[in-house]
Amino acid sequence: MAVKREQWGSKAGFVLAAAGSAIGLGNIWKFPYVAGQNGGAAFIIIFLLCIMLIGLPVVIAEILLGRKTQRNAVGAYKAISKSNWWAAVGGMGVLTGFLILSFYCVVAGWSLGYVIEAVKGSFFNFEQPVQAGVYFNQLIENPVWGLGTLFAILAISMVFVFFGIKKGIERGSKVLMPLLFVLLLALMIRGLTLDGAGAGVKFILKPDWSKVNANTVLEALGQAFFTLSLGMGALITYGSYMESKDNVPTAALQILTLDTLISIIAGIAIFTSVFAFGLNPEESGGLKFYDEGLIFQVIPVVFASMPGGYIFSIIFFTLLSIAAITSIMSLLEVVVAYFVDERKWKRRKAVLLIGLFALMMSVPSMLSFNLLSDMKLFGQTFFGMTNYLSSNVMLPLGGFLISVFIFKVWGFDKSEAELKLGAESTFSKYYWFIRTWKFLIKYVAPVLIFIVLLNSIGVLKFITKLF
Ligand code: TRP
Repeated sequence: MAVKREQWGSKAGFVLAAAGSAIGLGNIWKFPYVAGQNGGAAFIIIFLLCIMLIGLPVVIAEILLGRKTQRNAVGAYKAISKSNWWAAVGGMGVLTGFLILSFYCVVAGWSLGYVIEAVKGSFFNFEQPVQAGVYFNQLIENPVWGLGTLFAILAISMVFVFFGIKKGIERGSKVLMPLLFVLLLALMIRGLTLDGAGAGVKFILKPDWSKVNANTVLEALGQAFFTLSLGMGALITYGSYMESKDNVPTAALQILTLDTLISIIAGIAIFTSVFAFGLNPEESGGLKFYDEGLIFQVIPVVFASMPGGYIFSIIFFTLLSIAAITSIMSLLEVVVAYFVDERKWKRRKAVLLIGLFALMMSVPSMLSFNLLSDMKLFGQTFFGMTNYLSSNVMLPLGGFLISVFIFKVWGFDKSEAELKLGAESTFSKYYWFIRTWKFLIKYVAPVLIFIVLLNSIGVLKFITKLF
């Protein structure tokens, strides 16, 4: 028999690690610019619906599958189904992990690089985001800076995974996550007290439905999957280090609430600042800010103009880097767990080799902003492509498949029994929860995801044209 599988130290340890995976660049970097591109409040409402109707049931499903099988993303499917087809679905998750790592580490590297800029006091010459924009472009156009920061952030994340679940990932998350929360709160308060913040708040709260189209829904769904670390087996993997005495639905709700809160707080902090500086996405023609550069161009200017801005800017980019690190850990862990369980590699060897491979994969994404900026596939750079493809196609597809797996292959009789384990006290009070979960997994999640995906590949347009 193999050595006993490592376990989280406590349920809180699991929740913080999973929240650490969920909370990352997706909340602070991606959410604001995607919301900005897609019209603000209306997008946010659709996003929240996706989180509740699709995100929550699928989060629960992934954790249950991991906890039940005590296996990695591929092994979990194999433990329940004999079919290679389902093992391939798990394999697709592992591949998606690399795809995400390849652009994620680049942006995480920028955050780390910005910690150094903050320490150097580089932001104090900026009065307008335009200047910060010029500065940002100079940095990312430098491949040496890109490679250095990319390498550094990946190496730091690898250290935690190297030391394993309890001593590495859990211990790191327990310290880092609460810190992040406090700092973002401070930043939100600063945003709200800026002159002209009201317009930013309105942008987040007052929906303009005329901006909504099919693509908005796809982006909202993709963002929901991305921010919850869903659809590629990250939660299967984290769930596999869990014991069956832990309550899965409450853990899932806690992860989801923390993650959503952080997105909203980050959104308020950033949009109040954006509007206070006249960068309204609709009117200023400032649309060029609504891309991957947004926070790197807006935040430094806000800090430059506030008391204590020097310290705050260091802390902000440190925390952004931290949020990214805890997420990179989970992406690495999915791949590491696969090689450890299925290929019998030693954890340490797996971490080193996989880290190296992730670095190689990330280089073309990094070069998308300099040497390879002219190389386009379907009109997008390598960075744009991996960013779009992973969130908006691969993750929802993975979510669709896991829902189908739960009701068709694993079956509700068995998965319901697993759901109840450790959650008896909850369900004696809230039995409707199980029924709702089953309904969402069987009808709502797969059908909605399917429609959105068909639409995104244009099939739906084609069919409606036929009639
Ligand atoms: N959820 C993280 C974020 O918002 C990114 C992430 C980490 C992720 N692990 C994942 C996304 C697994 C999808 C799948 O930054």
